[in-house]
Amino acid sequence: MPKYKVVTMPGDGIGNQVLPEALRLLRAVGFDAEYIHADIGWDCWCNEGDALPDRTIELLAKHKLGLFGAITSKPKKEADAGLQPSLKDKGYAYYSPIVTMRQRFNLDTCIRPCLSFPGNPLNFIRKKPDGGFEEPFVRVVVFRQNTEGLYAGVEWTNPPHPVRSAMATHPKFKPFSSTPGPDLAISVRVITRKAAHNITKAAFEWAKKYGYKSVTICEKPNVLRETSGMMEEEAKLVAKEYPGIVLWSTNIDAQTMWLTKNPEDYGVVVASNLFGDVISDAFAGLVGGLGFAASGNIGDEVAVFEPTHGSAPKYAELDPPIVNPIAMFLSAVMMLEHVGESDKVKRIRQAIEVVVKEGKVRTYDMMRIPGGPKSISQGAASTIQMTNAVLAKLN
Ligand code: NAI
Ligand code: MG
Repeated sequence: MPKYKVVTMPGDGIGNQVLPEALRLLRAVGFDAEYIHADIGWDCWCNEGDALPDRTIELLAKHKLGLFGAITSKPKKEADAGLQPSLKDKGYAYYSPIVTMRQRFNLDTCIRPCLSFPGNPLNFIRKKPDGGFEEPFVRVVVFRQNTEGLYAGVEWTNPPHPVRSAMATHPKFKPFSSTPGPDLAISVRVITRKAAHNITKAAFEWAKKYGYKSVTICEKPNVLRETSGMMEEEAKLVAKEYPGIVLWSTNIDAQTMWLTKNPEDYGVVVASNLFGDVISDAFAGLVGGLGFAASGNIGDEVAVFEPTHGSAPKYAELDPPIVNPIAMFLSAVMMLEHVGESDKVKRIRQAIEVVVKEGKVRTYDMMRIPGGPKSISQGAASTIQMTNAVLAKLN
């Protein structure tokens, strides 16, 4: 009997290219696991009216550990158009399966490490006054509240009457009160104290475990006084339990500017759902972008690990595949870390570090050339060659 059972959900597009490569790597380091395939994504929506079928939910509920590739999601009208004719007009509504999964299993803590690999040509560099350059080492880990906020899914176009009436009780709604229903869209930003507490607590725990000196709560409490206000309030309360770690508070807009000025100043960053989504992509851009950005969605029982990139449909059909599998590898590494296989974590990270530093094998994104059928002839490594290079450096 293998020690672990991992539900693998390649999903759509390049998810099908990078996930199998991560499994090659996990097998090579001797991770004692059985992998159980589960369906998710666009085809499930088109053919079943549900991008996250019950059978996949059951597998996750049973085995608790998931590796996810990427899915394709489309705006409402395009999603409706994709539905098989026999399912049309039957009340099916498209919901992002990954957002649904996070809510279904209360995967409320999203961890997104943004760590520089020395020698990565995509690392952020800063111009010095004397004309030279410096390359600040970024060691940021973003904690994003994963189930609430503006992604809670509470939204309407043409809100029903009781919603309009409730809104009308707020004096600030007055300027909108005469807008015709079809011209009025509302998305609700929901923050609960419990979730605000959990995410800030998780951020401080991480800071303590990995020796970070600061936690930054990145919100907008001066304007979003209630929701961001509650996030900040809870962060201040939690901070009292961690005397050795300072709490900084920044506004999301200013933060997106500062992070390109002095990214090395930041350690653990915590934010609500949308802001965490934004700020983690922004930090990821300083350390290699989507080809390097991994994440973990952690709940009380279930945890799912995924690269933050999407299905990149324009590259999905290329043979050989050209996308960078490192984000997927780093997601697998996060899974290993989660289950306590720290020796394997070290071996894989070290192998990736060597490959990046040597710079002999680089996917198209690392060469800063356009992706496409010509990338390989221009010297870019394929997805598979990148995996082979990392495998060759495992000790
Ligand atoms: P995307 O992340 O799929 O691709 C954006 C661009 O980033 C690509 O064109 C490519 O240039 C680059 N890229 C992404 N992954 C890469 C990798 N591993 N190596 C090298 N380059 C890489 O985002 P896009 O194009 O906005 O969305 C495509 C589809 O993916 C949409 O349907 C979207 O809804 C979905 N999506 C799904 C996500 C998920 O499954 N978690 C997250 C983001 C988007
Ligand atoms: Mg995102």
